[in-house]
Amino acid sequence: MWPSFSSNILGLALLPLALASPFQKRASGPWMALDTDFPDPSFVGTPDGTWYAFGTNGNGKRVQVASSSDFQKWTLLDKEALPTLGGWETDVNHWAPHVIMRNDGKYVMYYSGEAKSDTGHHCVGAAVSQGTDPSGPYIPQPNPFACNLDKGGSIDPAGFLDSDGTRYVVYKVDGNSIGNGGDCNNGVAPIKPTPIMLQKVKEDGVTPVGDPVQILDRDSSDGPLVEAPNLILHQGTYFLFYSTHCFTDPKYDVRYATATSITGPYTKTNTQLLKTGEFGMTSPGGGTVSGAGDKLVLHSFCEPNVRCAYAANISIKGKTVTVL
Ligand SMILES: *[C@@H]1O[C@H](CO)[C@@H](O)[C@H](O)[C@H]1NC(C)=O
Repeated sequence: MWPSFSSNILGLALLPLALASPFQKRASGPWMALDTDFPDPSFVGTPDGTWYAFGTNGNGKRVQVASSSDFQKWTLLDKEALPTLGGWETDVNHWAPHVIMRNDGKYVMYYSGEAKSDTGHHCVGAAVSQGTDPSGPYIPQPNPFACNLDKGGSIDPAGFLDSDGTRYVVYKVDGNSIGNGGDCNNGVAPIKPTPIMLQKVKEDGVTPVGDPVQILDRDSSDGPLVEAPNLILHQGTYFLFYSTHCFTDPKYDVRYATATSITGPYTKTNTQLLKTGEFGMTSPGGGTVSGAGDKLVLHSFCEPNVRCAYAANISIKGKTVTVL
């Protein structure tokens, strides 16, 4: 019998691709998870296998939340995850939420909020879920988790659970907010530091233990800043994911540094895991990787001024991260 017309067409169409990379599957890259403004996304998996993603304020919500049953297809929920505020914060600029599950089954959301005492600058807040629903509502702690307003404030928190059960939070000191102008307000000398800090916390996820330690900072190859830190441990190596440059700049990207101890030293690989022009991305950033190191969410401009959320499969071998 003759092969059907359609299968013949398909066979011919696939041939050049197969010849071009005979041994390696071509990376397909991130796929769009939410075709709407959902910047700085993070995600958490739940015991029943559902995924929840959280995004910066948008679509009429202070903190946006979306869910997925398979990590492939996502649905934006019409729910305000943070219906009440901490006494220290204003009602605007709830940025870069990140959620972890606690041992007691409740969830902790870390987020950036604008400081009432110093508007235009931000502190990191922590809020605990009322029950065991990861979509909230989350009830803010009365006091901010970290401020550092004298150094520009604090933003972009992410929780981390170490293999020995110790919990940490990483965040960025927002030095460029008190910079001298130019690129993201930090392109004019003297350039302000934008350190990434590591803070140990108690099992409750919200009570700091000791002082934070600095684990990274910008250098000239990062442009005005490093930000959006997110930490995982994979087979004995700590991977600190972060973004460099201004989020509006085509140079915004996702990079990672590695360390063999949680407190560092962290060595920048200077690998651009995601960058403008690859996989159709424009200023990709705000990447968050799962604890297992096989999934990532991030944002990329999908229209002017709209940062859609994308999801990707990744693979880690040794100290190298690859987008699949
Ligand atoms: C991502 O991984 C899942 C689970 O292995 C798989 O079903 C899916 O096809 C992958 N997606 C892409 C775009 O590679």
